[in-house]
Amino acid sequence: MSTNIIAIDGPAGSGKSTVARALADTLGWSFLDTGAMYRAVTCEAMYQGVDMKDDDALGTLASQVQIVTLPRVSVNGRDVQDQLRSDEVNTAVSLVAANPKVRAAMVDRQREFAAIQESGTVVEGRDITTVVFPNATLKVFLTASLEERSRRRDDESEHSVARRDHADYSRLVSPLRQADDALILDTTGRSIEEVVGEIIQCLKNIDSK
Ligand code: CDP
Repeated sequence: MSTNIIAIDGPAGSGKSTVARALADTLGWSFLDTGAMYRAVTCEAMYQGVDMKDDDALGTLASQVQIVTLPRVSVNGRDVQDQLRSDEVNTAVSLVAANPKVRAAMVDRQREFAAIQESGTVVEGRDITTVVFPNATLKVFLTASLEERSRRRDDESEHSVARRDHADYSRLVSPLRQADDALILDTTGRSIEEVVGEIIQCLKNIDSK
């Protein structure tokens, strides 16, 4: 078992998923997209007709639901991959992710996932560097201009991206913020290879210390 973890946080469209996947491939590590987990809970709540404002009902659902994120996302055996980025989910996920009971259930699973990986794990989300793995081997915060982040999200309007950002930065539980010791990378106008290369270099510098 390995305690090697690269934790990546950042707002929507900052490049987290693409960079995290590429890093995991390069290093031969596992990859965990925690946003997909919050989106999966949202899909299931919609499917079961649970009121998104009912904290207890959502918390119970999150603690009992079975989620698989790879190779496709499924909830309780139902494939929801193609619904994850629908307008309905983009709107409701902010409410689901602001629920402390849902967060507690997801954080437990995220830690359990990393604990059983042989090599290491690249994990990306909003609270990974600050709450889930504050002692990660390397912590990274990715940013990019709102214009570029919306351009990368051709399935979501700039307004929706800005609204989700605001909800993520301002919520009471585990808001999105930069960890003090995170490597902060602005990915505006930069290629995936460049960003991945810089993170790998940073990891090597840590290893050689
Ligand atoms: O891909 P994108 O950055 O647009 O979003 P995502 O990573 O799929 O996450 C969707 C939503 O889940 C975010 O807007 C957050 O509200 C929530 N989320 C969270 O609260 N904590 C995480 N660790 C990951 C996602």
